[in-house]
Amino acid sequence: MGRAADMAAARGRARTAVVVLMLVLAALLGLLWKLWSSSSRDRVLVPSGRFWRPWPDSRAFWNREQQRLDLLYSPIFHPNGSLGNRSLTPQDPCTADPRVPTQVSDYNTLPRRFQDFLLHMRCRSSRLRISPPRGCGGGNGGGNGAPFLLLAVKSLVPHFARRQAIRETWGRAGVVGGRSVVTLFLLGDASPADHHPALQGMLGEEARLHGDLLQWDYRDSFFNLTLKDVLFLQWFGRRCRRARYVLKGDDDVFVNTPRVLQLLAGLDQVQTQDLFLGDVISAAAPHRDPQLKYFVPESVFEGSYPPYAGGGGYLLSGELALRLLAASRRVALYPIDDVYTGMCLQKLGVAPQRGDGFRTFGLDAALRGNPCVYRSLVLVHGCSPQELMELWPWVEQPARDCQ
Ligand SMILES: *[C@@H]1O[C@H](CO)[C@@H](O)[C@H](O)[C@H]1NC(C)=O
Ligand SMILES: *[C@@H]1O[C@H](CO)[C@@H](O)[C@H](O)[C@H]1NC(C)=O
Ligand SMILES: *[C@@H]1O[C@H](CO)[C@@H](O)[C@H](O)[C@H]1NC(C)=O
Repeated sequence: MGRAADMAAARGRARTAVVVLMLVLAALLGLLWKLWSSSSRDRVLVPSGRFWRPWPDSRAFWNREQQRLDLLYSPIFHPNGSLGNRSLTPQDPCTADPRVPTQVSDYNTLPRRFQDFLLHMRCRSSRLRISPPRGCGGGNGGGNGAPFLLLAVKSLVPHFARRQAIRETWGRAGVVGGRSVVTLFLLGDASPADHHPALQGMLGEEARLHGDLLQWDYRDSFFNLTLKDVLFLQWFGRRCRRARYVLKGDDDVFVNTPRVLQLLAGLDQVQTQDLFLGDVISAAAPHRDPQLKYFVPESVFEGSYPPYAGGGGYLLSGELALRLLAASRRVALYPIDDVYTGMCLQKLGVAPQRGDGFRTFGLDAALRGNPCVYRSLVLVHGCSPQELMELWPWVEQPARDCQ
């Protein structure tokens, strides 16, 4: 009787043990499945942080450069997450890299702008020539302290009229609707070597008059726009860390500043953290037709692009701008600046969001002439200084009739 009860109890215990074992196994299988499926789902197009992630062996120059950076910044070799004072190149990274011509298979047949880009791809510094006297506190007429919204406008030295039209319209600095707005223009050098007339004297006058120019020494070319982005982020990290929001735009965009402020007023702390709004393009890849402006040869880059926002204009939080600065150190410079920003966002695991009313690829011809359309939009690319002057009163005076 006692033995039968013992045996029944032992059988009961064995059954419980089997059930527990099966549960543990099921949990383990579930975990493995989750790991496997997540790693195959986010099969990254641009290398992300960890160096042990499977990496297609690439012969393209940018990809190899990125592989090198991933290795250098890998948490195993550099647990502090920084290289400290260790230089990435044996020589000054801003002199032409002599190894490039032998490392890029078709270097000699590449367009000149690519050769220039590749030779100086590791350069991330440039001397500041003109900086705003009040830092990011605004130009001569602006307020004090950190702005609520910083309008950072990529411009070129000869574009005097575009800058003035922006000052008189959407970039009018000061206090707008109780919020401080500051406008700064980002410039490089327009040198005689690129057949520019002597404009630096006039630019100096403009800086004295408005105090809203930020100019570096580097050659301002299309492929150096990424360098301009990086230099701006570096300056932002040093001089403007407390700005709440940044709108980065070209000098030929229309921005509905009141609408931007309205949009920002509705955000909470969590939405602000990862705020990156623009005209988002996903699933793009490099153009391989040498005739196109955005052509990138296979010898330079292989793969497709992460989601990115059209560079004509996007809106982000100051907090995210600081994280972008940190991420940019770990991403090799890419010749197309908006794609580069997308690559840095991907490093951070932040997805750019599609913003309603961002038209960085212009407007339909049918809508262009209609000022009322602009009232409901946030940002439109491709406006001349005169168009800005004509449109602005319609945005400022809601009383005007719009059918
Ligand atoms: C990390 O940083 C600390 C302080 O800056 C330094 O003492 C330490 O040696 C660093 N460790 C490595 C592995 O670089
Ligand atoms: C970095 O190292 C170089 C030479 O190795 C030295 O000249 C330079 O002063 C160092 N910079 C800092 C900030 O330590
Ligand atoms: C970018 O600027 C640097 C510094 O002025 C210059 O040496 C280089 O040629 C420029 N790159 C391009 C692609 O223009």
